[in-house]
Amino acid sequence: MNAIDTDRLLRELTEFLRIPSVSTSASHNADCRAAAEWVAGELRRLGCREVQFLASDTHPVVWGVGPDVPGAPTLLVYGHYDVQPPEPLDEWTTPPFEPTVRDGKLFARGAADDKGQVFCLLKAIQATANRPPVNFRFLIEGEEEYGSRVLFELLRREPERTRADAVLIADMAYVAPRWPAVYTMLRGLCYAEISVRTAKSDLHSGEFGGAAPNAHEELARLLSRLKTPDGKVHIPGLYAPVKRPSKGELATWKRLPFKEGEFLKHRVQAKALTGLKAYTVLERLWALPTFEIHGITGGFTGDGAKTVIPAEATAKVSLRLVPNQKLKAVERQLAATVRRLAPKHVQASVKFLHGADPATVKVTHQAFKLLDQAFREVVGRGTVPARAGGSIPVVPALGKGGAPVILTGIGLPDDRLHAPNEKLDLKQLWDGIRVFGRFYELLGSMGVG
Ligand code: BES
Ligand code: MN
Ligand code: MN
Repeated sequence: MNAIDTDRLLRELTEFLRIPSVSTSASHNADCRAAAEWVAGELRRLGCREVQFLASDTHPVVWGVGPDVPGAPTLLVYGHYDVQPPEPLDEWTTPPFEPTVRDGKLFARGAADDKGQVFCLLKAIQATANRPPVNFRFLIEGEEEYGSRVLFELLRREPERTRADAVLIADMAYVAPRWPAVYTMLRGLCYAEISVRTAKSDLHSGEFGGAAPNAHEELARLLSRLKTPDGKVHIPGLYAPVKRPSKGELATWKRLPFKEGEFLKHRVQAKALTGLKAYTVLERLWALPTFEIHGITGGFTGDGAKTVIPAEATAKVSLRLVPNQKLKAVERQLAATVRRLAPKHVQASVKFLHGADPATVKVTHQAFKLLDQAFREVVGRGTVPARAGGSIPVVPALGKGGAPVILTGIGLPDDRLHAPNEKLDLKQLWDGIRVFGRFYELLGSMGVG
């Protein structure tokens, strides 16, 4: 291994994290483009003979082809340079796009999800004494946090881009400090806006209150009927295809360093956990569908007071999906349920914004053993198989060509992804560079297959 120049790397990662590449808002299109340029520059410095921007001007997929090593295995590295919106800004100790180190942790939006981890995979290529004999391919996208539409289209047209002996994704976390993981499943997602309209326009609540329908009231009633108080999602047919984890898998979860009490106290930091009490928390997080309300708009929410009956209200909601649910079927079920629950005098509609099927990967391929060995050598413990509650929409498409998809990461469970004060522990980053450097070396020397 080469010595790691931590000062220089920290400066470089800081540059990347300074770019506010929020993909879910068009006002950041130029920033997304700038982040793509940063990735492209990095790939060129790594000696890629081909670096291209594909499929979009504002959120291009960055494609890179490393130097050819005849006879060596091909590794496709996937990651994303876009990030989630940083709001609420006043809850950040230091601003989200002014990366700051405190107590060995780097605080910034994207530090862990996923710029810091993309950085880790790229820098690991230079971590070993000799360049690892691996044919590197890079697919770094800029729309993961918005459903990956551009990349989906690209891979549908050009599936050969995924041809590889293995696909490597570092966009997740250890299951606990000192417990690296590989993931066997990601939940899917169905993101939608539910809108109700009750009148032609807003009405004076004194003139009309008591006799006119209220859009917020109707929406609230409708939403509250989509989930029972004990946590069951009330959509007919939703649970029918859900496959319960095997006894063996449930038994392995019992051995993970996960305590429900600690999860509540230190991670959720609320008064109580909710959801279906008949299942363990891990089963609720990893193996059951969910329904969440993200935000409700409409009516009057400004400063002061306004006496108005809103004519329209919209809720942004999503469901997480698990094996063997299908996005298309869940979309139909949600739309039908909303139609059925809306009273005749209410005009309800559902608009689907993005989504993903759940992803399942087998972790038996030789490449997983090499990653296990690399973690064992560098951090003293191999990878435990786990599932993830989050989603990476394009994972099923990346695996279509038959290559094993390695889902892993260097984050920690308390990184606060999508939330204020997201961070990456620098020790995780420096270890991670050594781990993946060693993995590339092992992959190159032993081959795969
Ligand atoms: N890196 C996450 C996915 C993740 C988070 C996996 C935690 C495992 C544990 C990814 O960037 C993400 O946030 N995905 C979105 C996808 C969606 C916007 C289509 C998600 O899960 O909400
Ligand atoms: Mn991510
Ligand atoms: Mn994310």
